[in-house]
Amino acid sequence: MKLSVIGTGYLGATHAAAMAELGHEVLGVDIDETKVARLAAGQVPFYEPGLAEFLAKHVASGALRFGTSVAEAGEFADLHFVCVGTPQKAGEYAADLTYVNAAFGTLVQHVRPGAVLVGKSTVPVGTAARLASAVRDAGAALVWNPEFLREGFAIEDTLRPDRIVIGAEDETARRVLEEAYAPIIATGIPVVLTDFPTAELVKVAANSFLATKISFINAMAEVCEATGADVTQLATAIGHDSRIGNKFLRAGLGFGGGCLPKDIRAFMARAGELGVDQAVSFLKNIDEINMRRRARTVDLAREMCDGSLAGRRVAVLGAAFKPESDDIRDSPALDVALATQLQGAAVRVYDPQAMGNAKDSYPTLAYSPTALEACADADVVLHLTEWSEFRSLSPDDLAAVVRERNIVDGRSVLDPAMWRAAGWHFRALGRP
Ligand code: UDX
Repeated sequence: MKLSVIGTGYLGATHAAAMAELGHEVLGVDIDETKVARLAAGQVPFYEPGLAEFLAKHVASGALRFGTSVAEAGEFADLHFVCVGTPQKAGEYAADLTYVNAAFGTLVQHVRPGAVLVGKSTVPVGTAARLASAVRDAGAALVWNPEFLREGFAIEDTLRPDRIVIGAEDETARRVLEEAYAPIIATGIPVVLTDFPTAELVKVAANSFLATKISFINAMAEVCEATGADVTQLATAIGHDSRIGNKFLRAGLGFGGGCLPKDIRAFMARAGELGVDQAVSFLKNIDEINMRRRARTVDLAREMCDGSLAGRRVAVLGAAFKPESDDIRDSPALDVALATQLQGAAVRVYDPQAMGNAKDSYPTLAYSPTALEACADADVVLHLTEWSEFRSLSPDDLAAVVRERNIVDGRSVLDPAMWRAAGWHFRALGRP
């Protein structure tokens, strides 16, 4: 099939390459000319394991190309995926729908009658129903098909998703999308056919549940800290109950990134508009628990520096919101780095992939080219993003460069016994 992907950010670039992998002819469209030029040259403007090679393969074969014209997309294809972003509005909880409205607004002017427009962006419930009439007026049909990909596993999650959710009013349009996904559906993964509001809600409900699971275990970490219990053992023990499961129960600095924080906030805002704010008011607690972990990490660093960070040197290991990503949107690691700096510390940050993004967005922080250099003369080392590189750091090598052997493990993946045996004062969130 011939299809277009409107918006070639994280989601769109991955989706476009994955559709080419399924055997389709794909045109990716974005308003950002620099981004399009890079993608057309087979380069990915962000770090995602395997994506650059995957994309370059399909650009080279001619199955995948990129451009800036939605009019060309309308000429080229009768199936269009809208993959533009819905960031949090400045100064508000609600999602900013500027890009979604603009993408659909332009598409409906250029599509041919009979075309199918597929919304993949994460939107407030009710958006699809609002957009559907303009799509119908253009003689086309709308389908809502939320995306669940995780950064770091984007290709895998797109080609082998846990489920496909399709919200549609129009049978024919739904079948066109099923045909496009036929090789994935043939593997037997569950397909949930539903209406627009359910499809939109599935996405925010899933992200709310994941955020709740993380904040639940982080709330237990707070109780563990007050009682001397160990949250990692607690998580292992409750995770053995198959009704609970052991995934997304890693206590620590909490969630960040471009999805979970903004999606739960946008959900609260939308629920307020719908008059059901009470139904999701618990999400405010989820958000608060999450933010408290960042403050607690700064407290631990300060406690290790005898009650004041003023004039102290802090080494921050990690800047990305999670490993295998260079994404620093709402990064807990950088939030902690900035907070320690505000309390008077001299902060040096190192991250294997996110240094460029961090330097651009936070030029007041200092950066070092290696973990060891970031730790030179440090009074306290903060381990804030669990890259595997940090797990293999030797306590002895680090001891040779720091001023004081103080380390806070914000992600509970380092071995306390090993660090303590090497003479380190070791603290971790939720652990004795
Ligand atoms: C998430 C959802 O998983 C994905 O389905 C959705 O489409 C987009 O949002 P992503 O933001 O890539 O994906 O990250 P994810 O792997 O879900 O992690 C989110 C955050 O939670 C990270 O900051 C991570 O460090 C944190 N986390 C995750 C924990 O603190 N503990 C855990 O046990 C798991």
